[in-house]
Amino acid sequence: MKIAVIGAGYVGLVTGAGLASTGNKVTCVDIDEEKINLLADGQVPIHEPRLEQLVRYGLAKQNLSFSTDLGRAIRSSKIIFVTVGTPAQVDGRQDLSTVDTVCEQIAGAANGPKTLVMKSTVLPGTARKIGEKLQTSRHKIAYVSNPEFLKEGSAIDDFLKPDRVVIGSEDQDAIEEIETLYKPFLRREENILVMDSASAEMTKYAANAMLATRISFMNEMAAICEKVGADVEKVRRGIGTDRRIGNGHLFPGVGYGGSCFPKDVSAILYLAELLDCPAGVLRATQHTNDGQPNRFVERIKKHFGDKGGGSVLGVWGLAFKRDTDDIRESPAMKTVKLLTKNGFSIKAYDPEATENAERELDTMRVMLCRDPYGAVTDVEALVILTDWPEFSNPDFNRLSTLMQKRVIFDGRNLYEPKTMAQRGFLYCCIGRPTADPST
Ligand code: UGA
Repeated sequence: MKIAVIGAGYVGLVTGAGLASTGNKVTCVDIDEEKINLLADGQVPIHEPRLEQLVRYGLAKQNLSFSTDLGRAIRSSKIIFVTVGTPAQVDGRQDLSTVDTVCEQIAGAANGPKTLVMKSTVLPGTARKIGEKLQTSRHKIAYVSNPEFLKEGSAIDDFLKPDRVVIGSEDQDAIEEIETLYKPFLRREENILVMDSASAEMTKYAANAMLATRISFMNEMAAICEKVGADVEKVRRGIGTDRRIGNGHLFPGVGYGGSCFPKDVSAILYLAELLDCPAGVLRATQHTNDGQPNRFVERIKKHFGDKGGGSVLGVWGLAFKRDTDDIRESPAMKTVKLLTKNGFSIKAYDPEATENAERELDTMRVMLCRDPYGAVTDVEALVILTDWPEFSNPDFNRLSTLMQKRVIFDGRNLYEPKTMAQRGFLYCCIGRPTADPST
């Protein structure tokens, strides 16, 4: 099948390379010429495990190509995936201008019947509005809403072995066409969920809002655990083993971030309020998350007391989560900015996100380090903000020698408090009793 993927960002690249891996002829299109040239050369400008490998495989098999020529890609393809960004505006509204423009271009350039597959995250009701625009084309353009459920850091696995594929459309032929595309990735057909387009659009928001709500809920539980001397890690296991609850997205921390949860919760909240629907849960989810970095910083400030101002802290992690260089809405970045605002100086290390972080941080107050041990040399405490695997098992003896004081604030609960106390560290984490070697 000949496919065009419009927007060679993170979702577009994974989709394009994934579909090319099963023998489809895929052209990924983007307006950014520099990016397209890099990709055509097999170089992927974002950090996503195994993506470069899959792109190179597609190029070598001549199933994957890159272009800036949108019209040509539309004309030569039967199926067109739209994977452009839908950023949030200041009031939480979604900016659909790029999606609108691309859909108009598809309607204008179509030279025969086409199927438009919307993978960009768009609010419920968008399918209907775009469907009306597509009517202006001289040719039939069927519309399919096909939300993506990829997680950064494991996007290739999520695409090649999805939990489920949601296909929302009112056009039976288009539904069958897209089902055929996804069948090689799904062993059990019941994982293909066919529905109307509004329900498919809503499924995407409901999924992200539910996952974000679970995280904020656990962050609230963690705060209560701290006050009553309970251990949230035990509580998490205790509830996660209930099959009705399940284990996913129950880890407390410094809050959720990234390009999806914050934006999607804002957008669905905006829509709910516009439609005069109750949205107390969504509002509370967002409110709890917004306060999470500050709550953590307050604990650090409390430890240092009045003399905190001039202290130097080491920070491990700037990306919004492990296995990505993405710092969009990163709670780690928010925490670092709050710390510097409160007078702390920072030595920070992240395995992949340093370059992106450098553009946003006050480098007078934040020194970016090339290795994790450089970031802890002579610091008065280490603050862990991203759950990178390489932080799971560091050389604690080396940390003890390098750090001025053996104090760790862990916003990702990477270590066992009891073991940390035995190693001689004052260890403060989220929702678990503080481990103090002197007691
Ligand atoms: C999320 C969803 O998980 C995907 O299903 C969805 O396709 C994607 O958004 C999207 O809409 O495109 P992603 O943002 O890549 O994926 O990352 P997650 O792994 O869900 O993590 C989001 C944030 O929540 C991160 O900051 C992470 O550290 C935090 N988190 C996650 C927790 O604080 N606790 C958890 O238990 C899980």
